[in-house]
Amino acid sequence: MADKPRNGKVTVVGAGFYGSTTALRLAEYDIFETVVLTDIVEGKPEGLALDMNQSRPIEGFETRVVGVGGGSYEGTENSDVVVITAGVPRKPGMSRMDLIETNASIVREVAEKVAAASLDAVLIVVSNPLDEMTALAQLASGFPKHRVMGQAGMLDTARFTNFVAEEAGVPVSSVRTLTLGSHGDTMVPVPSRCTVDGKPLTEVLAADRIDHLVDRTRNGGAEVVALLKTGSAYFAPSAAAARMARAVMEDSGEVMPVCAWVDGEYGISGVYLGVEAEIGREGVRKVVEGDLSESELAALRDAAEAVRAKQADIADL
Ligand code: NAI
Ligand code: 2OP
Repeated sequence: MADKPRNGKVTVVGAGFYGSTTALRLAEYDIFETVVLTDIVEGKPEGLALDMNQSRPIEGFETRVVGVGGGSYEGTENSDVVVITAGVPRKPGMSRMDLIETNASIVREVAEKVAAASLDAVLIVVSNPLDEMTALAQLASGFPKHRVMGQAGMLDTARFTNFVAEEAGVPVSSVRTLTLGSHGDTMVPVPSRCTVDGKPLTEVLAADRIDHLVDRTRNGGAEVVALLKTGSAYFAPSAAAARMARAVMEDSGEVMPVCAWVDGEYGISGVYLGVEAEIGREGVRKVVEGDLSESELAALRDAAEAVRAKQADIADL
């Protein structure tokens, strides 16, 4: 399909596990003209890009991947979307919050440089701790809030869906789930919005099994970290970020759970938080407020306060 139209440029900053898998997924969509992969390390993104491009004749895609190492932003200019994965991942026993100082200095520098090279880009942040790094990227880039969002809810929701499908013994496509709140201790899985083949989850699974899956979802990242021992998950995370970038480029209007600036929805204001949002070419078109049970709404408000307290400090990091 060499003559198929391909448009736009997506840059992925950080050529580690998350960044490289995201770049490959984006390239394999075969809808972008160019995917740029950058890293502070010289040679790593160039080598990965060369390797990915050599997979094109086998996988049948034409998008070119360009690797840029040494912390340079040459070649990223005028990107339509930039996914920021630069930073360190956690080790077993660490919380995402243990990464805040190291990753804040990285994300601040990256967001400033990205903004200087691509004034009109939409930023998708994935570096942890996610909610705080998203707020920091917005501050450092100076971009309007709707053009900066974070990836967490797509991943946490996919984990919840996978766990429910396995427990109920049904295909993942039969299951709808939702998680909101923070990408941390105050994550809010939302059982009242979950269905299996259109039936409420409470009619399919016993209450104690739902509680167990909610807990497992909340600890989904730590479960993978404990098994891997070095580094954190990247296959499901990269799928989540790549889908968000695609929704932006295609101006799809899909409603996705993402970390977005909340300004009045659910009675919450002035904080980046995991909510459902309509995604388009301008980033977040609008936050979509859905029905929640009383306890889920209370949990979401608690999550907002916990994240707000941390986000208040980020300007000084
Ligand atoms: P990794 O260690 O494999 O890769 C990180 C890369 O960032 C390295 O190649 C490193 O050289 C690069 N880097 C560091 N400073 C840089 C800078 N100033 N400019 C450009 N590149 C720089 O880590 P991995 O697994 O790729 O994870 C990346 C981040 O994503 C971590 O903070 C991790 O916690 C987070 N993460 C977030 C998830 C989410 O759902 N939001 C899920 C999984 C991981
Ligand atoms: C995850 O949830 C560690 O945030 C990362 O896999």
